[in-house]
Amino acid sequence: MTRKGIVLAGGTGSRLWPITLGVSKQLLPIYDKPMIYYPISVLMLAGIRDIAIITTPEDQPQFQRLLGDGRQWGLSFTWIVQEKPEGLAQAYLLARDFLAGAPSAMVLGDNIFFGHGLPEMLKRADQQPSGGTVFGYHVSDPERYGVAAFDAHGRVTQIVEKPKVPPSSFAITGLYFLDGRAPEIAARITPSLRGELEIVDVLEHYRAEGSLEVERMGRGFAWLDTGTPGSLLDAGNFVRTLQERQGMQVGSPDEVAFRQGWIDRAGMAERARLHGRGGYGAYLEAVLRE
Ligand code: TTP
Repeated sequence: MTRKGIVLAGGTGSRLWPITLGVSKQLLPIYDKPMIYYPISVLMLAGIRDIAIITTPEDQPQFQRLLGDGRQWGLSFTWIVQEKPEGLAQAYLLARDFLAGAPSAMVLGDNIFFGHGLPEMLKRADQQPSGGTVFGYHVSDPERYGVAAFDAHGRVTQIVEKPKVPPSSFAITGLYFLDGRAPEIAARITPSLRGELEIVDVLEHYRAEGSLEVERMGRGFAWLDTGTPGSLLDAGNFVRTLQERQGMQVGSPDEVAFRQGWIDRAGMAERARLHGRGGYGAYLEAVLRE
């Protein structure tokens, strides 16, 4: 079965209050694009076209105004509401009918990935016939994340949520490739002390049966956090620095759709026209002229 995508874009964004009292975090700008463009582009780079977008009930209309039904990028969006932010693993329960047994790639709507070889890494994860693949990223503050422990052979021995004494410096990023059993496994876990269905418990299930790959993202990759005012600004500056230096976009669904052949030249020209004279529209024009 073809893998389907999930973008989890609900949550409260309380660390960004008061900004996120009036607007969803995942609609905030990361330099020149809405935050959610970046995780959508990641799923597209993995070759995924059938995508569920999970939002809060209040924010859904704004996301729909921005993203429509996905046709502009050769995608199909299914809209799902999460009434309350009751944990990342709840996404699999909410998306159960959408997935209908298919394997999935879920990405958190506030996670930004960048790096040489990312598409190949994503395609490898997509081709895994069963079990799960997640990505470990070396960070200076692992105690803030789900962390992987490894044995002497580099095999994962445990995944722990926000450990006081981290067993390694490898945080699990917000991108999870799981097989078709994920909703069934998520249905069997119980809420944690903080009242959430924890993704770590789902991953631990795969790990315990020996079917979880933790692929380490090397130092050539960037995995950026956008959850606090400082990290949001830093992520924007990072994207701006790269784009201005290289003259290439990070996280443009329009460009990815065109390069994947999911929209044709006419479709891309239409997208460029729609964006008018801003830098983004000019960039799409330039991609067309290449
Ligand atoms: P978090 O950063 O854990 O939570 P948050 O975005 O609500 O922010 P804060 O901690 O400042 O209150 O969430 C990570 C991502 O997952 C983010 O994109 C929001 C999303 N999310 C949901 O959509 N539903 C949920 O139940 C949770 C916990 C998170």
